[in-house]
Amino acid sequence: MKLSGKVAIVTGTSPNIGAGIAGGLADEGAKVVCADVVPDNAEQCASWIAKHGGEALGIACDTTDETQVEALVARTRDAYGGVDVLVNNAGILGGDSVLDMPLDRWSRQLAVNLTGTFLCTKHVARQMVAQKRGGSIIVIVSTAGHQGQAGNIGYCTSKSGLLNFTRAAAMDLARHRIRVNSLTPTATDTEEGLARAAEWGRARPEARRRTLDFVKMAPLGALPSPRHYAQAAVFLASDDAEMITGTDLRVDAGAIAKYWPWIPHA
Ligand SMILES: NC(=O)c1ccc[n+]([C@@H]2O[C@H](COP(=O)([O-])OP(=O)(O)OC[C@H]3O[C@@H](n4cnc5c(N)ncnc54)[C@H](O)[C@@H]3O)[C@@H](O)[C@H]2O)c1
Repeated sequence: MKLSGKVAIVTGTSPNIGAGIAGGLADEGAKVVCADVVPDNAEQCASWIAKHGGEALGIACDTTDETQVEALVARTRDAYGGVDVLVNNAGILGGDSVLDMPLDRWSRQLAVNLTGTFLCTKHVARQMVAQKRGGSIIVIVSTAGHQGQAGNIGYCTSKSGLLNFTRAAAMDLARHRIRVNSLTPTATDTEEGLARAAEWGRARPEARRRTLDFVKMAPLGALPSPRHYAQAAVFLASDDAEMITGTDLRVDAGAIAKYWPWIPHA
């Protein structure tokens, strides 16, 4: 139990990556607050953790609204006595090209991916400073934050902004022993998230064919699942990472390290 006695807030707890990380933290003994703008995602994730023997609370919260974020932190403090870990996972994926991206979609995507992360980090870090026991903040990025992907201008821009947000916040918070690191997932194997959605009683969506062959291009020959991100998040959240701050931990099957024209599994 690497996180026993710790309290974690995870934002964006859909059955996919957020729930995978929330469940992984709970398996290591953390009490977990599942926060999502969709109330069902918050509540069902918390119930699922409780059903598997963990302790969790679901709270509906739009992370772009400062009043709601302040209330999220206050409710967490009232329920569990403080916060030790924050996982900024809520995000809006997908988008369009710089030629076609409508301004309102661009603004909302940047608001959720960047401003939501800023607001949660600000108010959780204030709570951590007041507690005087340090803390760990994890920012979920994407390989699209490291590379220029066509047809995804708002996502690429916001995720790459988060990489330097992480470094700057790490510097602001270092003297309080609050560590800030990012975690880079990549195109994710969908099976685990779909199985979890079914366990939550949700209908299985129509299978969507991916236009790119991600597995063929991944050096490790397989795509990561949410549980792989959870293992990395547990490490960053735990005291095992006590000297690690301002870094990015890539859980991407080797994607970003790859020499770009090489096709490993052609
Ligand atoms: N799925 C992938 O292949 C992949 C790859 C790389 C990075 N990521 C990143 O991982 C994270 C999770 O991705 P996912 O695939 O599980 O996506 P998802 O769409 O299943 O989950 C995102 C969650 O964020 C919530 N959310 C959106 N706006 C919010 C707001 N304003 N306040 C609170 N919650 C809000 C949504 O309701 C949803 O539950 C995202 O940050 C995404 O960019 C995903």
